[in-house]
Amino acid sequence: MNIAVLASGTGSNFAKLISHQDGYHIYALLCNNPSAHAINHAKNAGIRVFCPVRGDGRAVKLADFERLALDFLAGLDVDLLVLAGFMRVLSADFLAKAPPAINLHPSLLPVYKGLNTHARVLAAGDRAHGASVHWVNSELDGGQIIAQISTHVRAHDTVPSLSARVASLEHRLLPWVLTQMAMGRVPNGMVFDGDHSDFSERAV
Ligand code: GRF
Repeated sequence: MNIAVLASGTGSNFAKLISHQDGYHIYALLCNNPSAHAINHAKNAGIRVFCPVRGDGRAVKLADFERLALDFLAGLDVDLLVLAGFMRVLSADFLAKAPPAINLHPSLLPVYKGLNTHARVLAAGDRAHGASVHWVNSELDGGQIIAQISTHVRAHDTVPSLSARVASLEHRLLPWVLTQMAMGRVPNGMVFDGDHSDFSERAV
């Protein structure tokens, strides 16, 4: 299974996808932010980078990014787009023309779509938090859920502690989902207990 990853920033999940690469092959990184650290991960791994910029070196507008990305993808044999920290909402028109796309999001969707999920979980006094991988549609964080991983919110959790714990869960979840998909076993909304189980061994 050939994938292209879309990322806008740090790219810690992208780095995990590079080191895991079990059953899937990363064809390219598509990036809308020329300063993104994700670009360094791609270059170090010899993965081609698509990151269009304007004449002054700044990022292009989303509509231009989408148009250029479709041209770029047309020359590649990509089965799936993987959004891992891609911080823009792709248009319905782009999604209709591009390969299918999945996204990683730091909440137990459908709750807490959008930004600042850790702070919102703490403010609400929720007892559970986690991460989701879902199909992408043109609604923000709105597509069908593929798999989730949860963690208990602890009494002394802060935004940094929760953020670090959810990030480590994401680093396990997304590569596992991709390996499953590469084997033709698309998970159907299963939820793993990230505090207790080694889900990669238990899961079918
Ligand atoms: C992750 O929390 C992901 O769920 C969200 O953006 C973050 C990306 O982190 N969509 P990184 O750039 O992979 O470190």
